[in-house]
Amino acid sequence: MLLKLGVLASGRGTNLQAIIDAIEAETLPAAIAVVISNHPGVPALGRAARHGAPTAIIERSAHPSHSAQHQAITDELVRCGVELVVLAGFDRVVGPEILRAFPYRIINIHPSLLPAFGGGLHAQADALGYGVKVAGCTVHFVTEDVDCGPIIAQACVPVLEDDTADTLAARILEQEHHILPMSIRLFAQGRLKVEGRRVRVLPPP
Ligand code: GRF
Repeated sequence: MLLKLGVLASGRGTNLQAIIDAIEAETLPAAIAVVISNHPGVPALGRAARHGAPTAIIERSAHPSHSAQHQAITDELVRCGVELVVLAGFDRVVGPEILRAFPYRIINIHPSLLPAFGGGLHAQADALGYGVKVAGCTVHFVTEDVDCGPIIAQACVPVLEDDTADTLAARILEQEHHILPMSIRLFAQGRLKVEGRRVRVLPPP
């Protein structure tokens, strides 16, 4: 049985591509039921189309409120039979409409070692500016507290002496492309058990 994914992506979509590549390599027992973007014409939509996945553009400007837009996104996810929502570079905080419909069925990839550098859109530059020696990325369940949901997986990378925000972000991104498909695989295999703040990874069946 393939897990039905709904992917929300706002931009270049390299994390979406990592999911697509894992599905096409048959290392991820999932299928993309829909890719939804809140911006038209972004590369993520092209990546979805090349994979043959259905796409939808649900823009803020086409709805009277943030809430109405997020209700429309929820309706589309439900209509497509989505079982797990993946935020893969979605540039907005998901509203309560989506959270209520998919409790502990929404995951996000964030480019820092949470809880450090959560909440912002420039986590890699913030990490570099702070002077940390190790940076990384986190996959977590999405709850109403932004970037604070239970952590599923993390990966770390060194910060090098000559790093810029761009070189550090590129090193982190490589790890994002590993831990996001890996986390979806664990979810698909029913191996993630949330116990309060902790997510226990159960052994393979
Ligand atoms: C990634 O760095 C991800 O961690 C953050 O947004 C970026 C999206 O990149 N949430 P891409 O669109 O997947 O290439």
